[in-house]
Amino acid sequence: DESEGETEEYLFKVVIIGDSAVGKSNLLSRYARNEFNLHSKATIGVEFQTQSMDIDGKDVKAQIWDTAGQERFFFFLLYSTCRSGVGECSRNECEDHYEAHSDTTVAKMLVGNKCDLDNIREVPVEEGKALAEAEGLFFMETSALDSTNVKTAFEIVIKEIY
Ligand code: GTP
Ligand code: MG
Repeated sequence: DESEGETEEYLFKVVIIGDSAVGKSNLLSRYARNEFNLHSKATIGVEFQTQSMDIDGKDVKAQIWDTAGQERFFFFLLYSTCRSGVGECSRNECEDHYEAHSDTTVAKMLVGNKCDLDNIREVPVEEGKALAEAEGLFFMETSALDSTNVKTAFEIVIKEIY
């Protein structure tokens, strides 16, 4: 129908990774459902939530994946060797493909969660900030418990990949 033709839709994927019990599931449930659970169970496998937001009048959907803390990941970035037409994939073309997918479409953020527990803090905010800077990552401290920066953190990443 008409309205469908006018609506541009974008779907992005956000993957939350980190050690067990750092608060990945609660960060997501706070963002997606405004819920926090003091006694949440460890995640088994992966779960995702889809969250819609409006950016510059466009309907942007973020599919946010919550992973289990003990999992180890290796990401394959694939390109097609015959994508740019006939001929071999020159070294230059490989680099182009790689850069297109590693720089443009992958944004990363380092997040220090549980910043509400300032009395038992062990990592100073400066330390997190410095690591993020050195690695070229966005950085934010959050609290899934009191909601500090939860919305902001997701919005920064989603706007960055949009
Ligand atoms: P796995 O699924 O095992 O990888 O853990 P997880 O990273 O998903 O951690 P989860 O969200 O289950 O939270 C672990 C514990 O930390 C729970 O008891 C939460 O209530 C608590 N927690 C999570 N976020 C915060 C936070 O921002 N502040 C405080 N004070 N506690 C939090
Ligand atoms: Mg979890």
